[in-house]
Amino acid sequence: MFTIGVLASGRGSNLKAIIDYIRARNLPIRIGIVLSDNPSSAALDIARKEGIENFFLDPGRYRTFMEPHAEKSFIETLRQKEIDLVCLAGFMRILKKEFISSFEGRIINIHPSLLPAFPGLESWKQALEYGVRFTGCTTHFVEHEIDSGPIIMQSVVPVMKDDTPETLHNRIQEKEHLIFPLTIRLISEGRISVSGKKVYIHS
Ligand code: GRF
Repeated sequence: MFTIGVLASGRGSNLKAIIDYIRARNLPIRIGIVLSDNPSSAALDIARKEGIENFFLDPGRYRTFMEPHAEKSFIETLRQKEIDLVCLAGFMRILKKEFISSFEGRIINIHPSLLPAFPGLESWKQALEYGVRFTGCTTHFVEHEIDSGPIIMQSVVPVMKDDTPETLHNRIQEKEHLIFPLTIRLISEGRISVSGKKVYIHS
């Protein structure tokens, strides 16, 4: 069984989409653990309801990073659960070197823009302010530089003239809920290879 760990800080809609996708297709993928840096993340409630083991792990006193001992407890927990793939589903902290090298090539993220455009926070707002006609979402491997790893899948979303940040984010999320589970599935089936910055999807 291919085992994934999901890290989430917020609403957990991507976690829910992953659960539903796996269940609907009866895929041999197991969510071994859900971890959050936020005790009131809805992702923890979703996991609880689904009977998935879940923990809040205290990130420490910084806002954008985890303190070293906190990062160690994330790493240790994921190791104990023998996680094959770490999925960042709206995890709002930057991972440091030790974390990334502990799961080299086995961490993926969903980002709400067509990278490399609009990295960082609230990318849907950045897209609206910039005035682009299209934006979207990206799944990618996580490397040391933020939002920079090899791109796995992307989905394009039009920007409408009366969009608010919220309506645009919602439209982007509908696509996130398709490409994130699909990316996990392709990796679990061994259908993804990486060469430098390029990702190849095999049939
Ligand atoms: C998503 O927009 C994702 O792209 C970004 O954080 C948000 C998480 O949403 N990284 P949710 O908590 O899965 O609903």
